[in-house]
Amino acid sequence: MSLRLGDIAPNFSANTSEGVIDFYEYLGDSWGVLFSHPADYTPVCTTELGRTASLKDEFEKRNVKVLALSVDSLARHEGWIKDINETQHTQVAFPIIADEDKSIAHAYDMIHPNASETTTVRSLFIIGPDKKVKLQITYPASTGRNFVEVLRVIDSLQLTANYSVATPADWKEGEDVIVVPAVSTEDAIKKFPKGVNIVKPYLRYTPQPNK
Ligand code: BEZ
Repeated sequence: MSLRLGDIAPNFSANTSEGVIDFYEYLGDSWGVLFSHPADYTPVCTTELGRTASLKDEFEKRNVKVLALSVDSLARHEGWIKDINETQHTQVAFPIIADEDKSIAHAYDMIHPNASETTTVRSLFIIGPDKKVKLQITYPASTGRNFVEVLRVIDSLQLTANYSVATPADWKEGEDVIVVPAVSTEDAIKKFPKGVNIVKPYLRYTPQPNK
């Protein structure tokens, strides 16, 4: 059974490039990004892990802990990390899980047998401090993910969690946000002192509250 938004992300203990990790302990009170890739020593995966490593400060700024996963061995991860660091001009400083028995891949439904019987697809989960799944995306092996989009979604999720606002299509940091339907216009006017632009009773914008 696959995970759905709002489900509790299963805990696990894993061998990783940074030692044995208990997922929940590793996350603590932080947000988490858990993402799988099909295989070590493959080109698209090399760029994805390099990109994630180079965005370290951006993830830290947002209080997000990152974990990658493939079904390759720890020995392969360790050799490949050297290649990633060399070719992507970065330092991988987050754990890569060696899920050789595929137990985590199965718990998170990362193996899609009609795509590949043996390797994980490009699944990505954003997990909140409450350990619930806030977002999941699945990409095919041939398409590298957009990690700027991952950061954008994290920003949106954190705005919703902290300020009861949603973000419109193509929203970018600094642009106006949307008052969620659960907040009445009367309450919105009190809650958002920067102003509420009421386009329709159900479509109300306010400047980004944390700017
Ligand atoms: C890659 O990471 O480049 C890749 C992995 C599996 C299939 C195709 C591409």
